[in-house]
Amino acid sequence: MKELEELAISVAREVGALQRERFEDPREIETKSSAIDLVTDVDRASDQLILERITAQRPNDEILTEETGVHGGPSSVRWIVDPLDGTTNYAHGFPHFAVSIGIECDGVREVGVIYDPMKDELFRVRRGEGAFCNSKPMAVSQVTELHRALLATGFGYDVHHSKVDNLDHFGHFIKRAQAVRRAGSAALDLAYVACGRFDGFWELALHPWDVAAGVLMVEEAGGRTSDLVGGPVPVSADRLVASNGSLHESMLELLRA
Ligand code: IPD
Ligand code: CA
Ligand code: CA
Repeated sequence: MKELEELAISVAREVGALQRERFEDPREIETKSSAIDLVTDVDRASDQLILERITAQRPNDEILTEETGVHGGPSSVRWIVDPLDGTTNYAHGFPHFAVSIGIECDGVREVGVIYDPMKDELFRVRRGEGAFCNSKPMAVSQVTELHRALLATGFGYDVHHSKVDNLDHFGHFIKRAQAVRRAGSAALDLAYVACGRFDGFWELALHPWDVAAGVLMVEEAGGRTSDLVGGPVPVSADRLVASNGSLHESMLELLRA
């Protein structure tokens, strides 16, 4: 696993450097599933570079990336990659985004790497070995009451039309928590729960690449992850609650209400 983690780190750093270097360049922007679901030239370039680097070293591994789908196989190792999490931020020059790489073996989450190139923060985790931000061990916060909690959430790209738009939950939490942020990168939201900057996070319209690295990170940092009713988070889950553990039941209670 250590070798896989090292490869994930080197790829995330290289791709993050490309994103940082091209951050102020003129952008080519297209839309995908809806008018607010963007993809930029740098999402595509990042996706391509990650694929090249992983397949060069690990030709038999399966790789799932957001922009180009499933590649390779048939080894028991699966890479789940969000080449640029925070595309809307990137497209607007808002410097909050990350590369996210999760690795599963036989369907079990084993490694996670999330790299924020603008802050040069590397969040990494290996099952059973703890989670780190740069070289510092990560631990979730100690906050036990919702009214003292800084929470995070996000909204899917179908928010203009979907009835499951998260606005009711957002309304409940904003009335009960200390504050709620919508910073625009689910991978960083999870890394921030793992390192105690956020006390909890929930979202209803996620994809495997948004959470493949962050779920294991929160768990190894002492937190809890679940679906909206407290069950385990399947790899393909679109709904997720992640917290420091102490707040989990209060968050589930509010989500049930
Ligand atoms: C999005 C971000 C955002 C979350 C969306 C994701 P993208 O990913 O993580 O915070 O609210 O659900 O799709 O499109 O920037 O990779
Ligand atoms: Ca994403
Ligand atoms: Ca993305």
